Amino acid sequence: SEMNTYPVWIDCDIGVDDAIAIMAAHALPQIDLLGISTTCGNASQENTYRNAHRLNGLLGTDYPVYRGAASPLCRELLTASHFHGNDGLGDVDLPVPPDAVYRVEAAWDALYEAAVKYPHELRLIALGPLTNVATAFSKYPDLPELLHSMLIMGGAAVGGNVTPAAEVNIYCDPEAAELVFDSGVHIVMCGLDVTLKALLRPADWDELAATGTRAGKFVRDCVQCAWQFSQKFGLEGVAMHDSCPVLYLAHPELFRAEEAGVKIETRSTLTLGKTVTDLYSDKQFDEKNATVVLDVDRDRFIEILKDCIKAI
Ligand code: BDR
Ligand code: CA
Repeated sequence: SEMNTYPVWIDCDIGVDDAIAIMAAHALPQIDLLGISTTCGNASQENTYRNAHRLNGLLGTDYPVYRGAASPLCRELLTASHFHGNDGLGDVDLPVPPDAVYRVEAAWDALYEAAVKYPHELRLIALGPLTNVATAFSKYPDLPELLHSMLIMGGAAVGGNVTPAAEVNIYCDPEAAELVFDSGVHIVMCGLDVTLKALLRPADWDELAATGTRAGKFVRDCVQCAWQFSQKFGLEGVAMHDSCPVLYLAHPELFRAEEAGVKIETRSTLTLGKTVTDLYSDKQFDEKNATVVLDVDRDRFIEILKDCIKAI
């Protein structure tokens, strides 16, 4: 059968699982990665931007990398060095390539240009707080309509991780998330409901490292800090949160999802940053703005992800 290839932009806060997601996007034949923009989140903007260049070095690629926001729209930055290491990549030894290209164009401008070049075709994958995307949507009001759709890692139909109610990408910049969810763009939301099932286990990273490639060893090494943390919560592996939207685009058949209305809580203290969905309520929202992804075939997901890493 004929395979679809999609033009894709990735906005991210690289990040251990962001890095692995970009490796997957690079390897998947369904994805034509046009550019990467970085936001603050897991680490500072300096570090996430630097990590994008480090990844280009690892992959032997020169994906154009654009710098975005250094802080959320109107809140203090909350980083996650306990999970992602001080550098955002588990403090692994991975140099910035000497030939890295430092572009002056801002993330939102470069994203808009890509959308103009591929009207109604570009898939925007967002793997961190939505600050850059919200900034782009504010500056270019026609952008939501110009995109084909967005696929995000963020939120949860049920529960949270940074608080009992909120997932960290949405919690970091709830005002940005609200703007994006209310923009009219269709969103495939891979929240914790599905991403906590997408576990890479010790046997998987040992298998990858045993291939002897730089990519395989990088995956094993960069997840170790996150693994220490994940074990404390009784998880059997490290959640490949950010690979979920990437693999959803290429292999939607691995996932179970439902159309729903999703709105963002921006005012409360107890539930700040919650992705309020109408999946389980009597009172339905008017607009079904999201495809809420709820489940994944974990074993097939991990097999495809490992094949991607092995192909690098
Ligand atoms: C999300 O937060 C970050 O730590 C991960 O990279 C992922 O995008 C999971 O809640
Ligand atoms: Ca991320």
